[in-house]
Amino acid sequence: MVNNKPNIAILGATGNVGRKFLEIIERRGFPFASIKLLASAKSAGIKVRFQGKDYIVEEATKDSFNDIDLVLASAGGSISKELAPFAVKAGAVVIDNSSAYRMDPSVPLIVAGINNHDLKKHKGIIANPNCTTAQLMPPLKALHELAGLKRVIVSTYQSVSGAGKAAMDELHEQSKQHLNSGSYTSKTTNRKFAFNVIPHIDVFSDDGYTKEEIKVINESRKILGIPDLRITCTAVRVPVYIGHSESVNVELSKPVTKEQITKALNDFNPDMLQVYDDPANLKYPMAIDIAGTDPVFVGRIREDKSNPSTFNLWVVADNLLIGAALNAVKIAEVVVKDSLLLSKSS
Ligand SMILES: NC(=O)c1ccc[n+]([C@@H]2O[C@H](COP(=O)([O-])OP(=O)(O)OC[C@H]3O[C@@H](n4cnc5c(N)ncnc54)[C@H](OP(=O)(O)O)[C@@H]3O)[C@@H](O)[C@H]2O)c1
Repeated sequence: MVNNKPNIAILGATGNVGRKFLEIIERRGFPFASIKLLASAKSAGIKVRFQGKDYIVEEATKDSFNDIDLVLASAGGSISKELAPFAVKAGAVVIDNSSAYRMDPSVPLIVAGINNHDLKKHKGIIANPNCTTAQLMPPLKALHELAGLKRVIVSTYQSVSGAGKAAMDELHEQSKQHLNSGSYTSKTTNRKFAFNVIPHIDVFSDDGYTKEEIKVINESRKILGIPDLRITCTAVRVPVYIGHSESVNVELSKPVTKEQITKALNDFNPDMLQVYDDPANLKYPMAIDIAGTDPVFVGRIREDKSNPSTFNLWVVADNLLIGAALNAVKIAEVVVKDSLLLSKSS
């Protein structure tokens, strides 16, 4: 730490989320004394240009963190499980994008601006939620504050960038092959992304839910602090590069009008949540328009006439931003501002 500026390591710097970390650090002017880029042995030696300087990617090992105050990690669950304890032992705070620690009761699971109060409980590791959960939090929090959440039904339409860079490359290749020859093969991911809709993200558990769906259920309860929230999810992959869309049906504990719902969403925090809802003029959020923008967008707000005090929403956000890198950098900003780094750095 130099002059209140942390030494940062980015673990998974060559991936979809890792590259977004660099973009967002630059865009938000996040203060740092030094920055170290870590990835697998495969990428060691690769040059990455950042703020006019070439950085050489290093292989991540347990000894990579001795001079580091803050780790932004996005190298997957097994790498986080293996390396985060060494980073914490070396005195660094780890903000982890993987699912490794999210449901650990001793690890705060944070959406910046939603439950910052949980940050002060951290013991070195802070978890960033699944992208699908993260974008759901601002509208659910706004409606919970308005009239209490009673039940939530979420159906997702998730882009391939949520499955990493390999999946984006595969959608590109598969689309080209399909347009040229009418068929294609899957090379690395074993998934038919192009011209398809796949009701299967992550692995199935014994009860028929996928792990992605279970993450949305459990992580939403933890972040909102409502352990018995009635919430269910069907998670679906669609052939979109960036931007997750969600159809969200919300039953509330008190009767409210559509106008009150719209006002609560509008008033929540415009940096995080924006209403874009004028169907008569073809205005509703779409992944292709919102990719690269920070807020969560909500449209198609309407009463569910089949059930009292229930509303349908269409919720769209950039999964690599609020769903991953932007949220992690916003958490890091609070950690630095509120002096929540570990003691070696203070
Ligand atoms: N994409 C999203 O929307 C999203 C949202 C929230 C959370 N996440 C989570 O963030 C993590 C990364 O996602 P991503 O989309 O960025 O994946 P990705 O594009 O596949 O990138 C993975 C990164 O991890 C690195 N890595 C792989 N094996 C490693 C090893 N043995 N040691 C060190 N680094 C290693 C890769 O380095 P190489 O290039 O050297 O292989 C690469 O930098 C995942 O846990 C994912 O669940 C993603």
